[in-house]
This record gives sequence, C-alpha cells and structure tokens, in this order.
Amino acid sequence: MLEATLRNRVNDLLSASGRSNVPPFMVMDVMAAAERIEKAGGHVIHMEVGQPAASAPKSALIAAHRALDEGRIGYTSALGIPSLRERIARHYRDSYGCTVDAARIVVTTGSSGAFILAFLAMFEPGDRVAVTVPGYPPYRHILSALGCEPVLIETSSDTRHALTGEALLAAHRKAPLKGVLVGSPANPTGTMMSREALTALIAAAHDAGIRFISDEIYHGLDYAFPAVTAAELSADALVINSFSKYFCMTGWRVGWMVVPDALVRPIERLQQNLAISVPALSQIAAEAAFDGFEEMEAIKRGYVENRRILIEGLPKAGLRKFLPADGAFYLYADVSDFTSDSFDFAKKMLEEAHVAATPGVDFDPYHGRSFMRLSYARSADDMREAVGRIARWLG
Ligand SMILES: Cc1ncc(COP(=O)(O)O)c(C=O)c1O
Repeated sequence: MLEATLRNRVNDLLSASGRSNVPPFMVMDVMAAAERIEKAGGHVIHMEVGQPAASAPKSALIAAHRALDEGRIGYTSALGIPSLRERIARHYRDSYGCTVDAARIVVTTGSSGAFILAFLAMFEPGDRVAVTVPGYPPYRHILSALGCEPVLIETSSDTRHALTGEALLAAHRKAPLKGVLVGSPANPTGTMMSREALTALIAAAHDAGIRFISDEIYHGLDYAFPAVTAAELSADALVINSFSKYFCMTGWRVGWMVVPDALVRPIERLQQNLAISVPALSQIAAEAAFDGFEEMEAIKRGYVENRRILIEGLPKAGLRKFLPADGAFYLYADVSDFTSDSFDFAKKMLEEAHVAATPGVDFDPYHGRSFMRLSYARSADDMREAVGRIARWLG
C-alpha cells in the first residue's frame, strides 16, 4: 500500500506536462526506416528531408574558420551582432527595394527560435492564432506548447493554397482571432501568395485587429514569380526568415525577424532571458553568407532543373496530380488515385522502390492521407533516378 503510494508519487514527479504533449514528426519515422534500408546495403533516394544537400556558402565557412582562429567566441548582444543586423537591413534594400531600419531586426536561433519569441511577445495563453492547413506542423505545435490555441484554416488549390481575407474573417467571426501566420513559398505545398493576395490578407487582418506573422524562410527560392515580403507591405507585420534554406545553413541555427517597433524591446528582454544570444560563430558566418549570393544562385538553378525533371517526369511515371510548384523545394502530390493512406503508401514506396517521401499526415490532419510531399533539394541525378524508380514501381 505504502509502496503503491510512493510509486504514484514518483510517477507524478516524473510525468510530463500536458502542454509538452505535442505530436511527433512522422517524417522522422520515414528517415529511420530509410536508414535501416541503407544499413542493409540499399541505396535510398532521399526526397523526405526538407533541407538542402549543399553546404553553407564558402564565404560563411571562411569567416567561421577565421573567427575560430582569432580566438574567443563570446556572447553577443541579445538582438544580434550589430553589423549582421545592418547587413540584413541592407538585404531588404538590395533584394526587395524596401527600407527596413536595422533597429527592427532581431537575430534568432533559426526561424524556429523566432516563432517562440514572436508568439511569446504577441500572444497571451488562450489566444487563438490562425494557421493554414496543409502547413508546417511546428506552427501549431509551438503555439499549443505555449498555451495558445492554433486555429486550423483549410486552404484549397483554387487559391494556390493561399489563405484569403474572407476565410480569415469567417474564422474570426466564429471566435475572435488574435493572430494569423502564413508562409509563402509554403511548406509542404510549394505554392506562393501573389502580391495581391498577400496585400489583401494583411489588410483584412489589420482591419480586424488580427496580428500578422509572415514566415518567409523560403524566400530566394521562388520560381513562378518573385516572392513579396510582408515587410514592404506593413510595418506592423512581423516577418520571420532564416539562413537555413536559401543559404543552406540548417545546422548553423541562425535566422532573423523584422519586428514592429513596439515589440523590439519586449523581444530583446525575452531573448536575454531565454537564450542570452544566438551562437556568435553562426552569426559571424551568417553575415559573410551575404557575400555568397553567386554560389547560392547556382544552387538555386539546380533546384530549377530538379523541379523541371519532376514536373515533366512524374506525370509520365503515374503521379499526375500535384500543386503548382511555385517555390521552396517541395512538390505536394495527390496520391488518392493509389491509396487512402499516404503513410502506408510512402512506407511501401520506400521499402519497394527505395524512394523516401513524407506522407501528408504530418502537414494536414484532415486530408493528409491523400497527399505526399517530395523534396527536390538534392541532385538532378537523384531526381531522374527517383522518377525512374517511381515509374517502375507504379507501372
Ligand atoms: C516553413 C518552415 N518554417 C520554418 C522552418 C524552421 O527552419 P529553421 O528553424 O531551420 O530556420 C522550416 C523548416 O523546415 C520550415 O519548413
């Protein structure tokens, strides 16, 4: 009896909080299965991973080596190394023709770190924040871990999977929203919002008093038309970006935000307490990455070729239905002609054709079983091989 009471007490002490109970990322299961096949000697084409195969620009690597040779890597100011913040502000002038004060730039631990800071600074526990479905799962999982309520709004191919002002306001009328987050180019769909669509959505959000967050992590990887930054459209929008994708620096864990004036100091205080600063070495490398545009544009040309190979090859291989591959390095394919369970489909494709892809269930709790995400961030040879394998497998 006493032992049982003690056991219960220990269980109580060790049990995790309810808010930590966020779902796992199914893609990890796919990656683990791919690893098992590779260990047994198989050759897997990896189209499941959402990261570039290339490494950081040479300019970034050289700067990091030099910094290590020169000695001490210390804390930086919480908002980031001033010269990096200035360089990011210049990037807005050079790439978008838009003036952003460096005082509004905050350097973060990847865009993942930016979400935490942004959500903490903008929302109270219980606040309802809209995110689109299909969408990047951590948006909703971070919100719920922080005690906010993610409100899932479904998008459709009719609007290139862009959230519309009408859909946002319809959700707001049901129960008031405090914020909305959209990404363009988007993960997993690869679709983009046009300037008109983004402008209209921001206007609708502002008019209704809904705070606007724009995830621009795939900017630079736009093929259908130039991506538009929300920083150009509104000084009240909070913009999130990262060195992970265009600059191929996933492991360096460095990103940034452009934040409304009123949020700079609150975010600085949060960052001071939560992280002190972003790793200095990564910030030094990130600043130098801006000298690597030529190299990164060559990598982007590789994605353009990969995208062409898939868009032309997959329909011939049997996968005919996919969304417009506007940007990022994803293709979101409708596999409902073959299966009602894309998880099982992806598993079989991996086991039998040795092509790894991510089932849509990670991104869309409603219709994800009909979809599969294919990443084309690797070599053109890999893409051709994948198309051939899928053709043989489906045929
Ligand atoms: C849409 C989107 N946002 C944010 C992230 C997080 O990236 P990071 O924290 O490396 O900047 C990812 C990563 O895949 C992503 O796809």
